Amino acid sequence: PFEVELARSGMVLTVEPGQTVLAAVRAAGVAVDASCEGGICGACRTRVLSGEPRHADRVLKPSERAEAMMICVGGSRSPRLTLDL
Ligand code: FES
Repeated sequence: PFEVELARSGMVLTVEPGQTVLAAVRAAGVAVDASCEGGICGACRTRVLSGEPRHADRVLKPSERAEAMMICVGGSRSPRLTLDL
């Protein structure tokens, strides 16, 4: 598991193994855009303010991967990610 901090509300969520960040965010009642939920459309692109995401999408260029992630598929390499949500 890892934690996701939502910068706009200050909420801190726990993402359990097998759960997506998208699912955890929605479970907390925060509305986010998503479409394919498979890492290919780009709809759920989210800015990463701190932490190191683990990417699993086919959308982002290498140069974009430090500062954004697709939350429908990506995880985290750090104990906490802070997202611009
Ligand atoms: Fe399509 Fe995440 S919903 S990339």
